[in-house]
Amino acid sequence: MRRPLVIGNWKMHLGPRDAEALVRAVDEGRLSSNEAQAGVAPPYISIPAVSACLANSELLLCAQNMHQEEKGAFTGEVSAAMLTEAGVKMVLLGHSERRTLFGETDEQIGLKVAAAAARGLVPVLCIGETEEQRDRGETLEVVGRQLAAGLGDMPVSDGSELVVAYEPVWAIGTGRTATPEQVDEVHRAIRGMLTEHRGAVAAGGVRLLYGGSVKPGNARELFSLADVDGGLIGGASLEARSFLDILFAARTE
Ligand code: 13P
Repeated sequence: MRRPLVIGNWKMHLGPRDAEALVRAVDEGRLSSNEAQAGVAPPYISIPAVSACLANSELLLCAQNMHQEEKGAFTGEVSAAMLTEAGVKMVLLGHSERRTLFGETDEQIGLKVAAAAARGLVPVLCIGETEEQRDRGETLEVVGRQLAAGLGDMPVSDGSELVVAYEPVWAIGTGRTATPEQVDEVHRAIRGMLTEHRGAVAAGGVRLLYGGSVKPGNARELFSLADVDGGLIGGASLEARSFLDILFAARTE
């Protein structure tokens, strides 16, 4: 069975000092018998501080982005090898803010996914439609295209090598969570597409996260959907109590 996973995407919040304080609070709060897996994705600059706090912890250290090349003249960029050396296990790729604000293309995201996987990092491939695309009835087409391009030739065997996050752009940071019916439809479709691309065994093992205005008050209902295996949390992950409440909503028992 897929173990639920909840990742806090801290975006451009929390320098090393504040990141350390939050990760300590989250890690201590987790001491209950919660079985869902938890991860945090700090800004690059805070990764070493968080990594040091997590030496004996099950909390997964994630990054928010990386460059596809191994090394070279790419000012301002960080490679997969650098992330693994710093203790990172998973990396968000293709987040809608990367796509819209920084011009990342499907093709580039595919290269990043391949580079991450080749280094043993688990890519968290983020996909999702804009409001205009949804209004035009293009949601599944857009998500399908982003999924296929992001996956590229990446091998997937039991599914543990990959996480896919469905984040409708119109639900990110807006307080407008997608309805359970909308999430259910898209997650089912993504599972079906993964089955077509990589077969039923691989597709059955990939964890599909929902992201977009997840809060303690709506997490349980969303996480109860059959093809939702947890969440990718922005704003509500910046405070230990609300992140922990969301994490507990994903518990397996
Ligand atoms: P919010 O939870 O703030 O809507 O952000 C979602 C997100 O973008 C997580 O990656």
